[in-house]
Amino acid sequence: MEQEQHTRAPQFSQEALAKTEEIFNRYPPEHREAALMPILHLAQREFGGWLAPETIDYVADFMNLAPIRVYEVASFYTMYNLKRVGTYHIQVCTNISCWLCNSDAIVKTLERKLGIGLGQTTADQRFTLVAVECLGACVNAPMLQINDDYHENLTPEKVVGIIDQLP
Ligand code: FES
Repeated sequence: MEQEQHTRAPQFSQEALAKTEEIFNRYPPEHREAALMPILHLAQREFGGWLAPETIDYVADFMNLAPIRVYEVASFYTMYNLKRVGTYHIQVCTNISCWLCNSDAIVKTLERKLGIGLGQTTADQRFTLVAVECLGACVNAPMLQINDDYHENLTPEKVVGIIDQLP
């Protein structure tokens, strides 16, 4: 399946195409380019959780933009993954509030539990572990994000429980 994503040109599903219409409708026609960020986000979801070069080229073509315009945006924001990520993309906040609340222990616990370091993916492609800047939940530091879900007020024990409960 993942192999297919690289041998076939990306193509939005009918459902995704309907969503692109919804997204375009949020902006005046003369500012269609403003839809680039949500369209890229949609593409990331649609094509395996990351933006392969062929996906970026597809989005550029789809939006009638020069590919460099899309690469600029995709490479600037950390919410876009330019490398393949595991089924569970674990983003640990290590910014100031989380760091003061011992995010180091959260990172170490995850590294031990998963057997990988920051920026790595497990051999079975289940987990990718990264450190990120503030995710806006400082009041409940330390915290992390797994795919779309936030987990807050973490302790090392709580983190192990969260990982063990993942399907
Ligand atoms: Fe971690 Fe803000 S510093 S959520």
